[in-house]
Amino acid sequence: MSNVLVICGSLRKGSYNAMLARALPALAPDGMTFTPAPRVDTMPHYNFDDQNTSGFPASVAAFADAIRAADDVIIVSPEYNWTSPGTLKNAIDWVSRMKDQPFKDKPVALQSASGALLGGSRMQYHLRQCLTSIDALIFGRPEVIVTFAPQKFDEKTLELKDQPTRDMIKLQLAGFAAFIRKVSGKA
Ligand SMILES: Cc1cc2nc3c(=O)[nH]c(=O)nc-3n(C[C@H](O)[C@H](O)[C@H](O)COP(=O)(O)O)c2cc1C
Repeated sequence: MSNVLVICGSLRKGSYNAMLARALPALAPDGMTFTPAPRVDTMPHYNFDDQNTSGFPASVAAFADAIRAADDVIIVSPEYNWTSPGTLKNAIDWVSRMKDQPFKDKPVALQSASGALLGGSRMQYHLRQCLTSIDALIFGRPEVIVTFAPQKFDEKTLELKDQPTRDMIKLQLAGFAAFIRKVSGKA
């Protein structure tokens, strides 16, 4: 049994990454359940002076608590200008300053969708670096990189219709489940 928190890096109503996140339960192995994280735009811009004078805002505490309560995390995000969206990075920066830092030793898998050829992969490699700096346990591969996203989702139902992409996600989630068992000593 594994309860995965899903953090979405897009705020857009018609987000392909949000569609990808919604596709996960149907493609997951038995016993893997999913909870959406609070939106990453619930937190103010990080400012050390604010943290110093007022502590962590309630929105940051809620985001950190959601990560702590989960067994593992999947981040599903677009790539902005070859890296992670600033709002997602801001959320990570906030919780990284906490004493009981919620990403420490937390298994994390990454997924991205983009309209372009590289499917947000550069964002994933930057997130790997960023999350390694705060001791998250990053799942390696298979990777989920959804290229040319508009062709992979049904415009009307907003469902992931592309079978090779669905198969790739199934493989990743099965691999992530095995990784979780391994790092939690339950293998
Ligand atoms: C500010 C901005 C920067 C972007 N930069 C990239 C990029 O570097 N690489 C890429 O593949 N797509 C880039 N895109 C296009 C996004 O991948 C595309 O808008 C995608 O649909 C966003 O994900 P979403 O549908 O989940 O919101 C960018 C979009 C925006 C708004």
